[in-house]
Amino acid sequence: MAQSLYDRDAEAIGNLQKLRFFPLAVTGGRGTRLVEEDGRELIDLSGAWGAASLGYGHPAIVEAVARAAANPAGASILSASNAPAVALAERLLDGFHGRGTHKVWFGHSGSDANEAAYRAIVKATGRAGVIAFIGAYHGCTVGSMAFSGHTVQADAAKADGLILLPYPDPYRDDATGEAVLKLLEERLAAVPAGSIGAAFIEPIQSDGGLIVPPDGFLRKFAAICHAHDILVVCDEVKVGLGRSGRLHCFEHEGFVPDVLVLGKGLGGGLPLSAVIAPAAILDCASSFAMQTLHGNPISAAAGLAVLETIDAEGLLAAANRKGRLLRDRLATLAERHPLIGDVRGRGLACGVELVRDRRSREPARAETARLIYRAYELGLVVYYVGMNGNVLEMTPPLTMTEADIHQAADLLDKAFASLSSVPDAVLSRFAGW
Ligand SMILES: Cc1ncc(COP(=O)(O)O)c(C=O)c1O
Repeated sequence: MAQSLYDRDAEAIGNLQKLRFFPLAVTGGRGTRLVEEDGRELIDLSGAWGAASLGYGHPAIVEAVARAAANPAGASILSASNAPAVALAERLLDGFHGRGTHKVWFGHSGSDANEAAYRAIVKATGRAGVIAFIGAYHGCTVGSMAFSGHTVQADAAKADGLILLPYPDPYRDDATGEAVLKLLEERLAAVPAGSIGAAFIEPIQSDGGLIVPPDGFLRKFAAICHAHDILVVCDEVKVGLGRSGRLHCFEHEGFVPDVLVLGKGLGGGLPLSAVIAPAAILDCASSFAMQTLHGNPISAAAGLAVLETIDAEGLLAAANRKGRLLRDRLATLAERHPLIGDVRGRGLACGVELVRDRRSREPARAETARLIYRAYELGLVVYYVGMNGNVLEMTPPLTMTEADIHQAADLLDKAFASLSSVPDAVLSRFAGW
C-alpha cells in the first residue's frame, strides 16, 4: 500500500518546525476548506493560524500572484525598488499615520518583523531595554524570542533589561488592568531613566490565550510608556488587518501606537510581513536588517490583493457580523458543555477557554488536546493556545461563510459530545505546545 502523505512527511521533514495536534495532511484547499489526500474536506477554523486571511484559492490572490510571477519586477527590494513593494508600502502608510512621517520595512514573517523593529529601535534610540508581556509570542528567531514571554520559549536567551509584565486577563484575575499598570510604574521607577526603548504589546494576546484586555488598558499603558519616551510597538501579526472587525485592532482601544507590526494575513498565505514606524527609526541605518527576498514583488502583489479585497468585499463589517455569529453559537454550546468556561474575542478572532470546573477555572489541558483531535476526526481544524494549553483559538479566513460557521459549530458540538472516544494512544503521538 502506498505510504500516506503524513507518514512521508514524518520521514522527510524534521520536527523542529512542527507543532502538530493531529495527522492533518493537506493536498489542496478552497474557500475555508482544506482537502486531504483522500478528498476529505475539513473546515479550517484556524485559517493556518490566521495566515489564510482570504481563505484558500481566493481569485484576487490567484490573479495577483499569477500576474506578478508572469512579469516579475525583479525578486528583491535590496538593490532595486520594485513597483508592487512601493505600492504596498504607500497603501500601508495611508492606513497608519500617513506618508511623510513614517516608513515601511518588509519581511517574510512576524518573527523577522518584530526582530527588525526591536533592533532598529535599539539602534536609533540607543536604548536596549524592552518591555513585553508574559504569554506574548513575538516570534521564533533569536531576536524575537529575546523579548517573548511565552512558556514555550522559556529556554531562549532573553534581552538584557527585559521587563515582562503579566497581561491583564479579565476572565482570570484582572478586570481592569490597574494592577499591571501599577507594576509597570514600579518597574520603570527601578531602572535608569532613558534605558528602555520599546514596549511590545499585542492588542489581543493570542498565543498566550486569546485574551482581550480590559477596556482602556492599552490606552493607559501607552500613556505611561509615552511619558517615559518609550515607543509603543503594536504586534498585530495575528489580529491585524480586519480580523478584529477594524483594519487595525488597536483602533478598538482608542490609542495609536508608534510602530505597527503586521504579518500572517498580510500575505494571504504568502510570506510577507511589515513594520510601519517613524522614518527616524527605519532610516537610522542602511543594509542593517535585510534578507535577499524581502519585499519580493510576488509577496507584495499578494499583500496588495489582500488589502484591496478587504475593502472590495467589505470584510471589516463581515468580520464583526460573522464573529458575533460564531461567538453566539459558541455561547449556546456552553449551555450544553460544561467544559466551556469562557467565550471571548473581537471580530473573527475568537477564543474558547476550557476548564474542568467553572468555579475554580482549573484549566482542562488534556481535554482540550482530546477535543481538537476529535474535531479533526469529524472534519474541523481548530488548534489551541494559552499558557495552560486550554484555549481554542479561532482565526478563520475573513471570507468564511455563515453556512460554514454553522457547520463548524455543529461539528464542535459533536466533538464535545464524543471526545471520550479518542484513545490516549493516538494523542501521545502529538506533542502540541
Ligand atoms: C502576535 C504574533 N507575533 C508574531 C508571531 C510570529 O509570526 P511568524 O510565525 O510569522 O514568524 C506570531 C505567530 O504566531 C504571533 O501570533
